[in-house]
Amino acid sequence: MKALVVYGSRYGTAAEIAEEIARVITEEGVEVDLVDSRAIKDCDATPYDLVIVGSGIKMGKWTKGSLKFLQNNRSILAEKKVALFVSCGAANDEDSRAEGQEKYLDEVAAKNLVNQPVATGLFGSVYDPDAKHGIIFNFTQRFIKKDLKEKGLDPSKRHDYRDWDGIHSWTRGLVDLLKNER
Ligand SMILES: Cc1cc2nc3c(=O)[nH]c(=O)nc-3n(C[C@H](O)[C@H](O)[C@H](O)COP(=O)(O)O)c2cc1C
Repeated sequence: MKALVVYGSRYGTAAEIAEEIARVITEEGVEVDLVDSRAIKDCDATPYDLVIVGSGIKMGKWTKGSLKFLQNNRSILAEKKVALFVSCGAANDEDSRAEGQEKYLDEVAAKNLVNQPVATGLFGSVYDPDAKHGIIFNFTQRFIKKDLKEKGLDPSKRHDYRDWDGIHSWTRGLVDLLKNER
């Protein structure tokens, strides 16, 4: 049994999630390869039983590398167990999770995969007031700060919205699926 984790990350958040997913898979006794989609030209999904593909979201979009991986391996992935995950701001708030699930996971799966993924993971992001993420980030920060204040949280502090326990159990569920079907 072999698993592949491919990720695209602009600011490192989805990369850390992918690393943790790979770590849990190894802990569960399954061989895993972890691949940054920027670092590969042609990553071939053929040798793998389980393929997990993820991305951070910027302006509603996956990274080009992760999308390209899905597109280049479309017919191979039709024969595999495929799971998708994203790290995005929409996951941080109960009110925006449904929209995040639909736009960043369900629509991407419908457009790029032949079959339904075995699982999707909508994972949170990190709010860092000192981050240098450019003009769009600076603009949206105003709204995020206001929202944090309204929720009684300190906007001058870093907030990590990633639910690591949830990420661990999501990953273990995938390994169970793999083990049980053999
Ligand atoms: C410039 C910018 C644009 C973003 N656009 C979106 C967006 O459209 N929807 C969303 O849910 N989150 C958005 N986010 C939040 C990111 O998805 C979140 O920070 C994510 O964890 C980034 O993943 P990465 O660090 O792996 O690139 C944006 C963040 C930045 C800095």
